Amino acid sequence: MDQHISIAIDGPAAAGKSTVAKRVAKALGFTYIDTGAMYRAVTYAVIKAGKNPTKVEDAESILPSLQIELKEDGSIFCNNEDVTQIIRTPMISGNVSYIAAMKPVRLALIQMQRKMAEHQCVVMDGRDIGSYVLPHAQVKIFQLASAEIRAQRRYLEDQEKGIPATYEEVLAEVKKRDYIDSHRDFDPLMAAEDAVKLDTSQMNVEEVVQAILTIVKEKTGLEAK
Ligand code: DC
Repeated sequence: MDQHISIAIDGPAAAGKSTVAKRVAKALGFTYIDTGAMYRAVTYAVIKAGKNPTKVEDAESILPSLQIELKEDGSIFCNNEDVTQIIRTPMISGNVSYIAAMKPVRLALIQMQRKMAEHQCVVMDGRDIGSYVLPHAQVKIFQLASAEIRAQRRYLEDQEKGIPATYEEVLAEVKKRDYIDSHRDFDPLMAAEDAVKLDTSQMNVEEVVQAILTIVKEKTGLEAK
């Protein structure tokens, strides 16, 4: 019997999943796993190796030696290098959807993600966690919000971080990623049939966290610590 509880939080780009997932994990004492960061780390490793992130053979060639570590403090290491900051830069954001569409890359990362959920209770956020990675997750949430609202949130975050981009650019990037993520042949972005769909357009972070904790309590009996 599976002793470990898994909570899957999926949804499109910039839906605020990671902020919410981190808070839910902290409240429950679970490990937070950011699977998007793993696809970003592969993208970085491919580019760093001087290879083409749109070519599947190039990406595949780096997989055998790939090492990704998600540390407890939230930092991300790829082949023993701290890539926490660099994987958020436009160079990576602009290329990661190509890498995430490659079946060999997905299979390698999905295997790692399943292993991570085997031995601990996790809150895992991504695009395919409830539908493919952890089909038996006890709780599955699919977060929704319009592209305009997601772009507005991401734009404000970028401004705070000093990342230079206009709202129009951010909106175009969000729409492009939505399209690529949901139209890839293998394992596209989609809600699992048994996922609870949560439209967060009119909710703030705290409201979304509380809504998810209520669903967790209903499904598992667990409460925030
Ligand atoms: O959540 P994010 O923006 O960091 O995700 C980066 C990219 O990785 C995005 O294009 C979608 C993709 N991704 C995916 O295909 N499957 C996941 N489980 C997580 C992310």
